[in-house]
Amino acid sequence: MYSTKIIELPRLLDPRGNLSFFEDENQIPFKIKRAYWIYDVPGGGKRGLYAFRKSEVFIIAMSGSFDIVINNGPVEFKYSLNRSYYGLYIPPMNWLKMENFSTNSQALVVSSIIYDENDYIRDFEVFKKEKDEIRKQYRL
Ligand code: TYD
Repeated sequence: MYSTKIIELPRLLDPRGNLSFFEDENQIPFKIKRAYWIYDVPGGGKRGLYAFRKSEVFIIAMSGSFDIVINNGPVEFKYSLNRSYYGLYIPPMNWLKMENFSTNSQALVVSSIIYDENDYIRDFEVFKKEKDEIRKQYRL
């Protein structure tokens, strides 16, 4: 399992229009089970505010821009996504917040699992507690 990281995708530059892509386990480190996208977010809007227990995700700004704030327990990082040729890989047990959406932005998310509400931790205190338990268990 990798840590949260920006992944640059191939770019085929072409006067007819550019093309980028990703495939299971080639550009991104997991098998894709599901894709969903977030659109029509009012300018400056927020989504997210949860952590995934098991799923890995990869998020791309297909158009426009937004920020993703990741809190991995002790540390918080902010990533700005604004081009469709790179995205953010997020492994499980990271608190994530999507914010500062530009008008008409579109976020594409691919996930390693089929939708399962039990995979979500929607309470930050519960997240911190579960993360501490994992740390103790693996002596991280
Ligand atoms: P939610 O995870 O709260 O959205 P966000 O990531 O923006 O915070 O999901 C909103 C609703 O959509 C929730 O009722 C569950 C449903 N949903 C699905 O049915 N399938 C999916 O793949 C996703 C991501 C959400």
